[in-house]
Amino acid sequence: MVTSSSFRVSFTLLLLLLSSSHVFASVSAAFRHKSSTARLEADALLKWRASLDKQSQVFLSSWDGNSPCNWTGIVCDKSASVARLNLSSSGLKGTLHGFSFSSLTKLTTLDLSYNYLKGTIPLGVGSLSRLTYLDLSSNNISGEIPTPIGNLTGLLFLYLCINKLSGSIPRQIGMLQSLNELDLSENDLVGSLPPIGNLANLTYLNLFSNKISGSIPKEIGNLTNLSDLRLSDNEISGSIPKEIGKLSSLEELYLYKNSLVSEIPGSIGNLTNLQFLYLHTNKLSGSITQQIGMLKSLNELDLSENNLSGSLPSSVGNLASLSYLTLFDNNISGSIPKEIGKLGSLEGIDLSTNSFSGEIPTSIGNLTKLSYLSLVNNEISGPIPKEIGMWVHLMSLICTITGLPVKFPLLSET
Ligand SMILES: *[C@@H]1O[C@H](CO)[C@@H](O)[C@H](O)[C@H]1NC(C)=O
Ligand SMILES: *[C@@H]1O[C@H](CO)[C@@H](O)[C@H](O)[C@H]1NC(C)=O
Ligand SMILES: *[C@@H]1O[C@H](CO)[C@@H](O)[C@H](O)[C@H]1NC(C)=O
Ligand SMILES: *[C@@H]1O[C@H](CO)[C@@H](O)[C@H](O)[C@H]1NC(C)=O
Ligand SMILES: *[C@@H]1O[C@H](CO)[C@@H](O)[C@H](O)[C@H]1NC(C)=O
Ligand SMILES: *[C@@H]1O[C@H](CO)[C@@H](O)[C@H](O)[C@H]1NC(C)=O
Ligand SMILES: *[C@@H]1O[C@H](CO)[C@@H](O)[C@H](O)[C@H]1NC(C)=O
Ligand SMILES: *[C@@H]1O[C@H](CO)[C@@H](O)[C@H](O)[C@H]1NC(C)=O
Ligand SMILES: *[C@@H]1O[C@H](CO)[C@@H](O)[C@H](O)[C@H]1NC(C)=O
Ligand SMILES: *[C@@H]1O[C@H](CO)[C@@H](O)[C@H](O)[C@H]1NC(C)=O
Ligand SMILES: *[C@@H]1O[C@H](CO)[C@@H](O)[C@H](O)[C@H]1NC(C)=O
Repeated sequence: MVTSSSFRVSFTLLLLLLSSSHVFASVSAAFRHKSSTARLEADALLKWRASLDKQSQVFLSSWDGNSPCNWTGIVCDKSASVARLNLSSSGLKGTLHGFSFSSLTKLTTLDLSYNYLKGTIPLGVGSLSRLTYLDLSSNNISGEIPTPIGNLTGLLFLYLCINKLSGSIPRQIGMLQSLNELDLSENDLVGSLPPIGNLANLTYLNLFSNKISGSIPKEIGNLTNLSDLRLSDNEISGSIPKEIGKLSSLEELYLYKNSLVSEIPGSIGNLTNLQFLYLHTNKLSGSITQQIGMLKSLNELDLSENNLSGSLPSSVGNLASLSYLTLFDNNISGSIPKEIGKLGSLEGIDLSTNSFSGEIPTSIGNLTKLSYLSLVNNEISGPIPKEIGMWVHLMSLICTITGLPVKFPLLSET
């Protein structure tokens, strides 16, 4: 009501101020258009609210009248159209079926994450042609990702993670060339990876914990802006393409818990910004490439539960930032390279259940930050170096002081 009376006031002012009836007519038409758009958008939103449960409706009790611009969760653009709708973590229960996407085409941001929404994503989502940010993550949304999502070519951020989405990832996702971040993790998606070669602006790609199969396409090498790639906990097979070496911005690479075979490509040595490399629980074979030593930024290296053989290259001694070296459950042989003693940041080493032989290098005594060392189930012989003896004593002392259980060293039965 306040709105319509203020409308009348400006109407009168215009009548007084404007001499040209032509100008008046067009301004008046613009006003009519504006208010009918607002009315249309308000009606669409109120219709959706009415489809939600009682508590959600109470939460949205500020949604009242004809002008949504100052309603909870809503921001309008200069022309008073609804541009941003953010009802993240609002306890909303219901579906999107009553959401009239075609009445809210000026939306640029839609964030409904962390609610209790269920049902499917309606096909109408494809009419939000101005959308740059779509977040429906952490709900209970099911069904397939609708193919009209490929219409949203202005999308920079797409988060549908932590839902119950099923079916395969529509190929149309590959048309979203502007995407910076794509997160479809923790759903029940099947089928192969969508064509990704054109998503060159991606910095973050997360498909973790689905049932995606097929292999990693070599076009992955096109995504040179990627800094974080997570494909773990899927059913991906085939080998790691050597094109992975083109992703020189990569800081985190998680491919664990898949069915990857063959050797780790030497091109991995190109990833000099890599901090986390988790390739564990696959079927990787061959020996650990000597190029691994080029990963100067590496903080954690986990290659456990594979079928790696050959020896551990002495180049690991160059991984100056390494905190955790985890290689258990492989068939790595030869001696533990003495260069390991150069890795002053190491806090944990697990080489258990391999075929390491020879003596424990005394240089291990150099690793003052080490608090976990497991060498069980190897063929290591000879005495426990007295340098380690001192270390064990020190750690035992620390454990005694802090009350932690003394459960190391888990050295082989020599
Ligand atoms: C915004 O909302 C308040 C009440 O929450 C109301 O008094 C005010 O008139 C509204 N303004 C507009 C422009 O609708
Ligand atoms: C939505 O609002 C929440 C806080 O309520 C905020 O953390 C989040 O960043 C907002 N989303 C967008 C896209 O601005
Ligand atoms: C999702 O739905 C299931 C039943 O289908 C229900 O048990 C669960 O609590 C729901 N979770 C959320 C976050 O709404
Ligand atoms: C997708 O875009 C095409 C052309 O831009 C349009 O004809 C079609 O209606 C759009 N689909 C949806 C669901 O909005
Ligand atoms: C990729 O990002 C750059 C820099 O932000 C931008 O200029 C370019 O238009 C983007 N490409 C696409 C296809 O959006
Ligand atoms: C890789 O990107 C280029 C443009 O940067 C594009 O022309 C090419 O088609 C892309 N390759 C694939 C396989 O998508
Ligand atoms: C990558 O990022 C840079 C800087 O943000 C940008 O200039 C470039 O256009 C982006 N895209 C590609 C394909 O390199
Ligand atoms: C290494 O990275 C550079 C760009 O940083 C790239 O041109 C080259 O092809 C990459 N080498 C391999 C083997 O991937
Ligand atoms: C393990 O690797 C060896 C060669 O290094 C190969 O002969 C064998 O088939 C592999 N086993 C599995 C289960 O992949
Ligand atoms: C481990 O490698 C050795 C050769 O270094 C080979 O004799 C043995 O069969 C392999 N063990 C397994 C379980 O693959
Ligand atoms: C012990 O550590 C220091 C510094 O971290 C390093 O310079 C030295 O080479 C190491 N000694 C051995 C035997 O690895």
